[in-house]
Formats: sequence, structure tokens, C-alpha cells
Amino acid sequence: MHNIVIYGCIGIFGGAIMEKIIVEGGKKLTGEVSVTGAKNAVLPILAATVIGANESTIFNVPNLRDVDVMEKILLSLGCNVKRMDKMMWVDSKPLYNIKIPEELVREMRSSIILMGAMLARAGEVVVSYPGGCEIGPRPIDMHLKALRELGAEIEESHGFIYAKADELKGCEIQLDYPSVGATENIILAATRAKGTTIIRNAAREPEIVDLQNYLNKAGAKVSGAGTSVVIIEGVDKFHDVTHTTMPDRIVAGTYMVASAITGGEIVIKNIVIDHLQATIAKLKEAGSLIYYDNSSLKIVGPKRINSIDMIQTLPYPGFPTDMQAQMMALLTIANGTSIISETVFENRFKHAEELIRMGANIKIFGNVAVIKGVKELTGAKITAKDLRGGACLVLAGLAAKGITVVENVYHIERGYENFHEELRKLGANIKKVN
Ligand code: EPZ
Repeated sequence: MHNIVIYGCIGIFGGAIMEKIIVEGGKKLTGEVSVTGAKNAVLPILAATVIGANESTIFNVPNLRDVDVMEKILLSLGCNVKRMDKMMWVDSKPLYNIKIPEELVREMRSSIILMGAMLARAGEVVVSYPGGCEIGPRPIDMHLKALRELGAEIEESHGFIYAKADELKGCEIQLDYPSVGATENIILAATRAKGTTIIRNAAREPEIVDLQNYLNKAGAKVSGAGTSVVIIEGVDKFHDVTHTTMPDRIVAGTYMVASAITGGEIVIKNIVIDHLQATIAKLKEAGSLIYYDNSSLKIVGPKRINSIDMIQTLPYPGFPTDMQAQMMALLTIANGTSIISETVFENRFKHAEELIRMGANIKIFGNVAVIKGVKELTGAKITAKDLRGGACLVLAGLAAKGITVVENVYHIERGYENFHEELRKLGANIKKVN
């Protein structure tokens, strides 16, 4: 039954591949938009729901393709799942399957996060190797090394990873790099390990704090998330839990750029201002006026966009790699030359060649992009290659002269809920067609 459901869904996804966004540029965006729950917080939290054989009620769950995939994975493992609007209820008591469906891992590589959770719950998991994706090889060596240090026996063969742990034992783990996924996987596994686990050089992203908050509400003992030292004391059981997902800081940042690139004036509600400081700083440097309180922000785009000497993407709290493509779109029409250095992923400039088709002047030297501002972009037929790159192309279309057609919009729908509709409400001349 599950396979029929899963293949049927891929068929629906397949249909989405033909969908396009058509935008006529030149409109200043004005109005108000409310930010949805964070994709990169809700995915590890949904993975965590399998740990406790308990009931989890999660609010502010965004309606995204990646969340749909995670829901299918939970169902395939035997969990009961109910989803109503922005709420998802998961009862993981009936969990019986330890194999994550291969086609779903291929669809969403971050499902590797289930390894830690399944080892904590069942002491066993089989998952296909997630392989690379559009933004680079995205290895998982740090995940596997840390899980082995916690006592898991892990074999990799024929494209699958077989992990088993009769007993997970707390230990001290030094990450070579503050990997978000590796930090999350270790936290999830360590919640039920014997003793205490200390992660050093942990990733400090706010989504990890949200995961800690969910886990502690369920009875786990996690502390230090948001700093580079996270401590987890293993516990024997979890109880039922209710949690509201934090707002999506990258969706917020994307709408900020939509205001800046069109010279508009947008109010963005339901944000956590601390999460946006790096993005605010760079948009101010580019000439935007930004006013904010703790939960909302107003951004007025500049008449003429200033170039930015250097944007370097870094682990949080540095400038987020997930905002790199959106800023590149803005800087293509800045007054002067800007430089972007992408230090987090190896191949995250695929949107540059599409922007060049629109008349942008961008030169790529390894992980450095040099963007010489042009007076204006012209609409073109372009293709989304990945999630944030796709959003970047729509943003460029908002400012370009004439019509832009963005293909493969299913990439965008992985991380943005009703993206074109929200932009239309803000005044954009935009629609989605098959
Ligand atoms: C998370 O990916 C996010 N995804 C990404 O968002 C985000 O760009 C990234 O963190 C950085 O902030 C989710 O949370 C679902 P990493 P993740 O492990 O965990 C290398 C989006 O657009 N690395 O911090 O995969 C890796 O190749 C997505 O929403 C290893 O070499 O990021 C990359 O170059 C895109 N070995 C770098 O570290 C490992 O074992 C950062 O990866 C793990 C990672």
C-alpha cells in the first residue's frame, strides 16, 4: 500500500516539474506578508518525533514539498500522522519499519537526519546513501563518524547505509566543521544514549535551538544549542509534547530582498529579529531602509542599489548561505561591483548562469562570484536548478524589463509556501502555469 501511495505522489511531483512561474517585472512591491514556520527547524523536529514512542503535536508547520516527503517517511515507518492546515500530529508508538524508503531519501537528502532518531528509538536503521544534490556532493562523513563514536556499527554497501546500536553511549565529539545536519543527528541519537554527550564545534543555527526546545518539552535533557558546545544527557523515556515551530528566517530574508530589488516597501510579520541580523546588515549596506521591533520589520528598497564590497557566507551567525542566491540577484543591478564568497557549499552558484541570460554581468572564480552591476536585467526563459537559486530567479524577474519565465518551480516549492501568490498579493505581476 505504502509503495502505491509513494509512487503515486512522485507522479504528482513529476507533474509539478512542468510548472512554470511567469513574471512581468517593473512593479514596486508594497504591503504585508507573514512568514511561515521554518523548513529547516520542522524537518529535524519531525525526525525527532520517532524517538519517544509518544504523541507530538507540532504547530506552524509550513505547507512545503519537503514537509510532504517527511510526512511520507513517517507514515512508511508505521507512525500515525494527521495534518490539518499548519498543524501536524505524529503518534510514533506504532513504529515497526526501520528502512527509510530509498525514493524518498533521493527526494530529500536531509532525511539522513532520521539516522540519529531511529538509532535512538529502534537501535537500527537502513537508509540509502543520500548522494549529492544540486549544490554540491554534501557528504555525510561527519554524521557517520560521530554516530560510530556514540557506539553505532555502520556499514555502507550497495548504496545503502546499515546502522545498528545495541546501546548508544554518551561521549565527547569534536566536529571538524560546524555541520548543521551532523549536529542535529548527534543530538537526536544522544537523547537516549547512556550517559552524557558533549558536542564541540557544534553548529549554532537557530533551528538547532528550536530542536532543543522541542526535545526538552518531550523530556530530553539538551542544553547549549545556539552555542558551539551542546550537552545532551541521555534519558529513558519521552512523554507527549506540543511545539510551535520557529519562523523561517530565510523566507523572511527572501521577501526582504523582494522589497529591495523592486524599490518597494514591505512589512514582514512573524519574524525573530535576532535571526535576521546578518541579512539586515547587508541589505542596509545595499541602501535599504529597515525598521523593526521583535516580531516584525519594515523594509524600504533604495532608488539605486549600492554595490557591496564583500558578502562571505558563513555558519550562523555569519551571513547565511541560504541567502546567497537572493543577494546575488539584487547585486546584478547595483551601482558598482560586488563580490560574493560562498564558503559553505562547493557548487552553489548555478543561478549565476541563468542571471547572465537576463543580462547580468557575473564572473565566477571557484567559490567567488564577481558581480558588476548593470542598469537593468531583461526578462528571459530561465531554469531553477535548486531551491534558493529558484527563488533568486523569481526575484530577478520582479525587477527585469519584460517577461521572465522560470521553469522547474518544484524546486522553489520545496521551501516556499505559495511563493508566487504571496508576491502577487504584494503587487507583483506574476502567475504559475503548467
Ligand atoms: C542545512 O544543510 C540546511 N538544510 C541547508 O539549507 C543549509 O544551507 C545548511 O544547513 C547550512 O546552513 C536543512 O537544515 C534541511 P551542513 P546541511 O551539514 O545540514 C559539508 C536550504 O536551502 N559537510 O551544515 O546539509 C557539506 O557538504 C538548505 O534550506 C561535510 O563535508 O548543511 C557542506 O559543504 C540548503 N560532511 C557543509 O559541510 C558532513 O558530514 C555544510 O553542510 C556534513 C557536511
